[in-house]
Amino acid sequence: MTVHVVDHPLVQVKLTQMRKKETPTVEFRRLAKELSMLLAYEVTRNLPLTEREIETPVARAMMPVLKYLEPCFVSILRAGNGILDGMMDLLPTARVGHIGLYRDPETLEAVEYYYKMPTDMNEREVIVVDPMLATGHTAVAAIERLKKDGAKHIKFLCILAAPEGIAEFEKHHPDVQIYTASVDQCLNEHGYIVPGLGDAGDRIYGTK
Ligand code: URA
Repeated sequence: MTVHVVDHPLVQVKLTQMRKKETPTVEFRRLAKELSMLLAYEVTRNLPLTEREIETPVARAMMPVLKYLEPCFVSILRAGNGILDGMMDLLPTARVGHIGLYRDPETLEAVEYYYKMPTDMNEREVIVVDPMLATGHTAVAAIERLKKDGAKHIKFLCILAAPEGIAEFEKHHPDVQIYTASVDQCLNEHGYIVPGLGDAGDRIYGTK
């Protein structure tokens, strides 16, 4: 499995701003959008191309177009939605799926409460998004579900990843590449990434 850390200076300075606890919701949300646009640029770098003949005002010529159906971004609710906006700005024709999972407090199993995907998932490049790869349990369960639905070409994009989450991911989905702005130190006893940026959903939506 490959972890791509996007070390572009613009990504890194935006991330620093997001980490600061005094950064207000309005700015955090804007930064999440800008950062995800830059991450989306990297995660789509290897989309397969083919050539098709077009006509310019001057001549006919073979030019690159996407080889397969439009890619599908899959947001893991709810925090994933906070980085979808930037990605859709970059690739407005992308299809978008949503998956909602919660952890059953007794069985600790991931339970699906929402699932809506476009058709032909097996023919699309699927990019699953969630700002924080912490324990990795939710991302692992979401990708398992997508594979059952036929998805074959899957990438995972997050803003921050913890080594624990990456290890969990590697165990279950060694075929899925991870794109992130940073691999942080560890998880704390509450499951938060350290140093991290706090609860991404709460900071994007101002719910705390
Ligand atoms: N989810 C978050 O939003 N933040 C963390 O640090 C870990 C999981």
